[in-house]
This record gives sequence, structure tokens and C-alpha cells, in this order.
Amino acid sequence: MIFNDLREYIAKLQELDEIKSIDGASCELEIGAITELASFRKRCPAVLFDSIKGHKKGFRVLTNFLSNRLRERMVFGVSNELTDPEAVLYWKERLKHYEPVEPVEVKDGPVKHNVMVDDQVDLTQLPWPRWHQRDGGPYICATSSVTRDPESGYINIGSYRFMLLGKNKIVAHIGSGHHGDVIRKKYWAKGKACPIAISLGQEPSLLVAAGTNTNWGVSEYGFAGWMRGAPVEITKGVFTDLPIPATAEVVLEGEMLPPSAGTEIEGPFGEFSGYYGGGARPAPVTMIKSILYRNDPIILGSPPFLGASRGILSSRGILVWNELDALGIPDIKAVNYSWGMCIISLKQAYPGHAMRAAHGAIAGTAGYHGRFVIVVDEDIDPYNLEQVLWAVATRCDPESSLDVARRIWSYKIDPRLPKQKKELGDYTGAVAIIDACRPYHWIEDFPATTQIAEELLKETNAKWGKAIGED
Ligand SMILES: Cc1cc2nc3c(=O)[nH]c(=O)nc-3n(C[C@H](O)[C@H](O)[C@H](O)COP(=O)(O)O)c2cc1C
Repeated sequence: MIFNDLREYIAKLQELDEIKSIDGASCELEIGAITELASFRKRCPAVLFDSIKGHKKGFRVLTNFLSNRLRERMVFGVSNELTDPEAVLYWKERLKHYEPVEPVEVKDGPVKHNVMVDDQVDLTQLPWPRWHQRDGGPYICATSSVTRDPESGYINIGSYRFMLLGKNKIVAHIGSGHHGDVIRKKYWAKGKACPIAISLGQEPSLLVAAGTNTNWGVSEYGFAGWMRGAPVEITKGVFTDLPIPATAEVVLEGEMLPPSAGTEIEGPFGEFSGYYGGGARPAPVTMIKSILYRNDPIILGSPPFLGASRGILSSRGILVWNELDALGIPDIKAVNYSWGMCIISLKQAYPGHAMRAAHGAIAGTAGYHGRFVIVVDEDIDPYNLEQVLWAVATRCDPESSLDVARRIWSYKIDPRLPKQKKELGDYTGAVAIIDACRPYHWIEDFPATTQIAEELLKETNAKWGKAIGED
């Protein structure tokens, strides 16, 4: 299904009764709280906020736009007929055959229908929600932010949050090691500001691409084009010459100033870890020089709430799995990555197989920022945390099956990183490897599980299932 812009996507959600409209909510905590409430509802509807208190009618905010099975499948182009494990396998294989669909440049686009430049720039005209109670200010948190590597010309897009400071001033949180951070530091090293174009809303596959940890050099525009099966239309910005999505709802263009030009406090912000791990810290500011927007623009909001599902297809587990495949580690059955825990299920084929997989996950790109890698046998479903805990409790010997890898790439929003380390800029942490597989060298002697064979269960269900009632 190809959506040419966010509006076509919303129209589809309306047709499928996947979206609720709310008029009159306030940016001050109300939009955030409604979004969280909605994300705990069974169908987890998308929510489109209009007539937002203090803002022009038509200046809208869309939340929960991806966070249920049907919507995720639509954007990823994966059939809703597939079971979850089938969908994971399908997407994993598709990713292996990824071929960029390069964007096409157009001279103009709806994003340029309205342009504010220089003194006209007034970010406060846009709705900036304060999402969570302890947030230090209003945030836009589902951006697709475009920068250009000054050495190679590589165009990178990442999703970073920005806090509103004034009419033309915002402050970013970009994790260290993220490509956007690497790029801006190259400009700063030369005493220059880093140009940036920040799309606040567009067809959702670009946000998925921006939020996916693709390798350096991979074009997120190419990735989004590949995902949606059609090239993204891009056009040049008016302040920067960066390529911006032509059908975007709003694009802010400006410069990320070097830290030497002064800093402002960024944060705290309720982060995806479920904590205010990053706290409030001085950060370099971004000055906005132009705002381009469509009539009645729609801003995406994807505030991290504990209830807001990030879906199985956007989970980093699939990427970790492909990285393990690329390392030539065989017989991986499934990989789940959630809450900084990477759970790998594999059929052990040789001594050391489980540890090789664990180290591969730590060393790769997608399994980063974790605290635990748990390796389980193939009979354990890594998405079923009860089964995983059972394996840990019964197959892992604390004396010989635990390891700790130290000084591993972490990040400043890690809630468990001591304050002193953060102050020193030492964003490295420890990752525990829990080998919860049956010991390979006496696997044949390991007690059999009491689990009744699947075939027998099936036969029994066919014969007696009715008598015990349906689920
Ligand atoms: C909705 C959303 C919000 C995100 N917010 C941030 C953020 O504020 N800062 C950050 O560094 N990464 C954030 N991320 C994760 C990055 O976008 C992601 O790791 C991305 O691959 C980084 O891109 P880059 O390496 O090209 O810079 C967010 C991801 C999503 C999907």
C-alpha cells in the first residue's frame, strides 16, 4: 500500500476505523495523557488532535500512528494474514534483499505552500506538547532530521527529540555515536554550525527509516522508498540546500551551533527506557531560520510511554538476527530485543555457539545500548518472557553461565549509568551475558522437559477440545 503523504495514510486509518479525533485538548500534559490512555486501550487507536488549545484550528498533532499490529503491518508492507513469527521471518528476509529506491527530486512540493523565514520564524505557532509530567518543556519527539556529512556528502536522517526554547530556538538530544552526532561534531571541529532540516510529519515509512539503526552510508530516503515501494519525493530546502520530503507537513531548517557558541538546558524528558535517565543537561542549541509547512499541518508525536507498543517489526531483534546471520552464526531460531534486553533463541550446534551469538549481538549495531543478552535453546520462544525466565531459572548455572562484558557502548540517557560517569562523558556500561541454554557438552543427559508433544496435544484437542471448552 503506497501512501503519498501522511494525509493519505490518515484517510486509510479513518476508513478502517483505526483513528480517533479529539478537539480542544491542551498541549500542556493533556495530549500526552490522552495518548497514553489510548495506547493502553485494546485497539490502541491512533489519535488526531485538532483545535488544540491556544493554536489555530487545523494545526494538528497525530499520535499512536504506528502502534498496533494492523498499522505496523500496513506501513511495513507485511500481510496481516501472517502470524507474528511468520511476519518476523518475512520481514527479516526482505531486509536481506534490501535495495535502495533512491528519492526523486522535484522542484516544488506542498511543504513549501507556506514559508516563514528570518524574523517571521515563530515556532510557538506550532503545537509543542509537554508530554509527561516531569518534562522540562514542550517537545517534538518524532522528527526525521536530515544532515549532510561534510566529508563524503552522505545524507543522513535520524529521529531526534527537540525541546522548544523560543520563537527560533530549540535544543536537541542526539545520542553519542548516532550518525547525526558524528556528523555535527565534524562541523563543530572546524568551528562551523551544522545545517539541519527537521521534518515534523510526513508519510510514516520515513520515520521508521530515520529511527532504524541502519549502517553508516545507508540512505534513509532510499530505505523508506524501498519500504513503501516507491521513491520518496524530495525538494531542496530554502535556507539549507538539504533534501527535504516534498510532501512533508512541516520542515524546520536551521543550524546546530557548536557548543562554543553557548548551551542551554535540555531535558528532562520521559524517555523510552521508561525513566528520566538523561536528566537536564546543558546542550548546544539549534537556531531555526525557516519554517516550511502545508496548509493545516500535522505534526507527528511518538512520546515514549510504557504502554505504547513499538511493534515486532520495528523491534531491533530482527536487525540483530540478520547481523548474526551475516557473521555466519548458524541456527538462530528467533531474536527479541526489548527494554535493553536481547534474547536469542538458537539450536546449539557446537561448543561455544551460544557465547558466539551473545558476543555477536553485543558487537553489532542493532543490539547496542543493552544491559543483558540472554541466550536460550530453540524450544524457548524469546517473545514469551515467562518461558525465558523459566529457562534462566532452570538451565543457567550462576557459577559458570554468567559473564559480564565491560566498557560497552552505552548512552547518556541510560538510567543505570552512575552520575559520575555521565559527568565525565564516559557513556560506557556493562552487559551481562546469561547463557540459559542447556550445557552443550552434556545436553543429551540434561533432564527431559515435561512438555507434552505438540502432535499429541493436537490430537487430544481434536478429540477432547470441545469437552473442555474453547478459550
Ligand atoms: C520516535 C523516535 C524518537 C527517537 N528519539 C531519539 C532522540 O531523541 N535522540 C536520539 O539520539 N535517538 C532517538 N531515537 C533513536 C534514533 O532515531 C535511532 O537510533 C537512529 O537510528 C539514529 O540515527 P542516526 O544514527 O542516523 O543518527 C528515536 C527513535 C524514534 C523512532
